[in-house]
Amino acid sequence: MGVPTPADKFSFGLWTVGWQGRDPFGEATRPELDVVEAVHRLAELGAYGLSFHDDDLFGFAATDRERQIDRLKTALAETGLVIPMVTTNLFSHPVFKDGGFTSNDRSVRRFALRKVLRNIELAAELGAKTYVLWGGREGAEYDTAKDVRAALDRYREAMNLLTQFVTDRGYDLRFAIEPKPNEPRGDILLPTIGHALAFITTLDRSDLVGLNPEVGHEQMAGLNFVHGIAQALWHDKLFHIDLNGQRSIKYDQDLVFGHGDLMNAFALVDLLESAGYDGPRHFDYKPSRTEDITGVWDSAKANMRTYLLLKERALAFRADPEVQEALQIAGVDELKKPTLNAGESYDDLIKDDSFDADKAGERGFGFVRLNQLALEHLAGAR
Ligand code: GCO
Ligand code: MN
Ligand code: MN
Repeated sequence: MGVPTPADKFSFGLWTVGWQGRDPFGEATRPELDVVEAVHRLAELGAYGLSFHDDDLFGFAATDRERQIDRLKTALAETGLVIPMVTTNLFSHPVFKDGGFTSNDRSVRRFALRKVLRNIELAAELGAKTYVLWGGREGAEYDTAKDVRAALDRYREAMNLLTQFVTDRGYDLRFAIEPKPNEPRGDILLPTIGHALAFITTLDRSDLVGLNPEVGHEQMAGLNFVHGIAQALWHDKLFHIDLNGQRSIKYDQDLVFGHGDLMNAFALVDLLESAGYDGPRHFDYKPSRTEDITGVWDSAKANMRTYLLLKERALAFRADPEVQEALQIAGVDELKKPTLNAGESYDDLIKDDSFDADKAGERGFGFVRLNQLALEHLAGAR
């Protein structure tokens, strides 16, 4: 273990390894990375997929759209790398400063939809199965500036149009909304997994719309990513996932997976593997701007290796008899048992007076010991 192969389904955004290190305070620290080189290097490292925004591949002006698509196709054919997911850039160009689907300017909303429709055709042509929508500019800085209820109407109108489009065209493509609480807008619409799940239930074709949660985005809101993923799985809405690292509530760090909250990353891999999630393990990280191109590929490798190490550690944790005993004492499996007996009614329940609350209150659950066992497996001590 530790060496990635395409069977592990690791994928990377072209904008991740291709990030040149430009931030609000500094210019690029690395030269541009060509898509053909990115495909070849990722394939050599054992990845299986590449994802991209339209603008990553051929720029907003798209003057050499066909040529770039052909170059990508050739590189894919040479390496066997696939395109599991495609997305649209509705955030970089000034036209999107107040959003795409929810800009106050109606002509911008129409343009944003055209840009997405056109790129969906390309996604389908390349065989992508998931279309991600990250609404980074769908939001506001000022409460007076955005009618949030109207914005949600327009968001829904956009989603209904897009699902109608893929249905009419017969594309085998589902949509995955990516929540984020803030940055670049002061407040972004559909800020968390929970907000997005509630929104999806209102859509015409909610079966075609799920989530692409990102580790750092939930953690920026102080939320537990593993709990969010568990709920997304429970709703059958984990269509895709963005793995990375974040250290507490601050700007979006997009660190290497595991370089943030490592215990939470361990629990995440344990959950994804045991729940049978079979989508791409997609890394949406940024190689720190301190790194040169060697550091870029080292960081790409680090994401995959960390995932595989955590997978190995999670399996060892589950197989350890002492862990099994601790899980038993903790009652983790007891929660799977329905609270009422089969056929039991609330009348029966009300009448049940056999319970001794004081006695039950004395129980120790041993959660600390259980967590320490997890840490010891994680640290390689067991
Ligand atoms: C971010 C976002 C983006 C999206 C990407 C896909 O860094 O805030 O995660 O990287 O994932 O634009 O649409
Ligand atoms: Mn991010
Ligand atoms: Mn992301």
